[in-house]
Amino acid sequence: HVAIIMDGNGRWAKLRGKSRIEGHRRGRASVRAVVEMSRRLGIPYLSLYAFSAENWLRPKDEVSALMSLLEHYLTVEEPKMMRHGIRLLAIGDKDRLPSTVRCTLERTIEATKENKHLTVILALSYSGRSDIVRTVQEIAAKVKEGEYAPEDIDETLISAHTETGSLPDPDLLIRTSGEMRISNFFLWQIPYTELYVTPILWPDFRDKEYLQALTEFQRRQRRFGRTDEQIAKNIPRADRS
Ligand code: FPP
Repeated sequence: HVAIIMDGNGRWAKLRGKSRIEGHRRGRASVRAVVEMSRRLGIPYLSLYAFSAENWLRPKDEVSALMSLLEHYLTVEEPKMMRHGIRLLAIGDKDRLPSTVRCTLERTIEATKENKHLTVILALSYSGRSDIVRTVQEIAAKVKEGEYAPEDIDETLISAHTETGSLPDPDLLIRTSGEMRISNFFLWQIPYTELYVTPILWPDFRDKEYLQALTEFQRRQRRFGRTDEQIAKNIPRADRS
């Protein structure tokens, strides 16, 4: 499961004296590139942080341009998703999306739901903390109704109630444009995720840059809290029996 914080569209545009919207348009081509490459490589899950809950604070014309780019992307890409067995999911507060975008999104999710090769998860109006808050509320309501006892609450139960409950935790989190932060993306989901930050701006992040990130990931030794010796002896991870 690869997750990507796609950052730097605005800076890419500014460096070239273009509008921020032009940066997002170029960014959309990078989205296409990583989706296609993931499909080609057989990566089963790709999560893309396309719009954070905080992004609603951006200038109105930028927000609406992003929404129409998204809608256009979904409309144009749906036949390709069908041809290549790509399933689309969305996480985040979809109720805040304009109704036209929500309808297109729902239609694409429905049309692609049986596709088996690659699942693309679009995080839209997403906030990692909001996901945790909603999860706690849902579990608390179930405890109140007697469905669970407080002692039943464990990591597995919490994971299952998050928006990504049906997905494995990300193995690799890529962030473009050099910023060293998570920006309220996945919080609960990334305790042992490998982080990869590149100075490349998102519109310049294409096949070569993606392969570089994946190659670097392959070189990492994932210890999940264990020592080198324990790994050599194949001692299982604490969260796996
Ligand atoms: C960050 O750049 C990027 C975004 C806020 C949105 C990502 C959107 C796209 C890649 C375009 C369309 C999306 C899809 C899924 C088709 P920034 O504006 O924060 O850049 P800056 O930090 O340089 O200002």
